[in-house]
Amino acid sequence: MRFTQLTLTLVTALAAEGAPPANSNRATYLDWSTFKANGVNLGGWLHQEQAIDPVWWDANGGAGLLDEWDWCANLDIDKMAAAGISVLRIPTGYNAWVHVPDSPLYTGSQTRFLRTISDYAIRRYGIHIIINIHSLPGGVNNLGLGGREGHHDWFNNQTALDYSYKTVDAAIKFIEESDFPDKFTLQPLNEPVDNPAAFGFPDALTDAGAAWVLSYFRGVLARVQATNAKIPVMLQGSFRPASFWSPDFVDTDNIVFDVHNYYFAGRPTTSANLPKFLCQDA
Ligand SMILES: *[C@@H]1O[C@H](CO)[C@@H](O)[C@H](O)[C@H]1NC(C)=O
Repeated sequence: MRFTQLTLTLVTALAAEGAPPANSNRATYLDWSTFKANGVNLGGWLHQEQAIDPVWWDANGGAGLLDEWDWCANLDIDKMAAAGISVLRIPTGYNAWVHVPDSPLYTGSQTRFLRTISDYAIRRYGIHIIINIHSLPGGVNNLGLGGREGHHDWFNNQTALDYSYKTVDAAIKFIEESDFPDKFTLQPLNEPVDNPAAFGFPDALTDAGAAWVLSYFRGVLARVQATNAKIPVMLQGSFRPASFWSPDFVDTDNIVFDVHNYYFAGRPTTSANLPKFLCQDA
């Protein structure tokens, strides 16, 4: 494997009078024969190359993986199935489903790979797939994983909500277009938090925040029911318990609650007593 490092020497030509405006008839095009460049190549940023960061590739793709093409074929699904795994929760960003104009997050072929992975797991092993929309526009919980570090601007923002529903519609379409719509559950939100100081605890979601989340849950449920009511909707209601949410739904709603227990947050948990806590919560 050869790794070429380019060091360019950059021009001084523009420095003299600054860059002319694009529409100026004084525009001067670059003459590479005289151009003295002093630049840098941003390799491994938008175009992944194993040789640029082999340590990261070995750690994340597995030793010996040489390109992105094989990364996506080199799945661990076989190992998981052998270990008895029957459900996969696959977090996705909203940007995998929709492009939001003011978001710098990449929207590309994520769903194509999601299709490959989920088809394989379903066909080969009958594994059930939970499609999780982990982030939403504006950020849902002040964490990077929720869309944006330091932001929970998704709350009370109608534009962000409209894009969230577009995200949901795209995910429903993905499930419906599958050969196995019965092998999916849709989870439209993860750990919504509008009071980050209480992260991990019920107060992480204020009453106003809970009202916003509930209206989103209802909107998602209505969309799923209008398309295919047999697709289960999994609700992750921050750190409020299932008993907080369940009175807002009726028995015929096809929902399941996903409860996140943060054993490290405020509970006297150690590796020795963790099983006891797990059993208590089960
Ligand atoms: C609402 O959300 C949209 C989409 O993410 C964003 O462009 C806009 O700036 C947000 N508005 C406010 C007031 O945060």
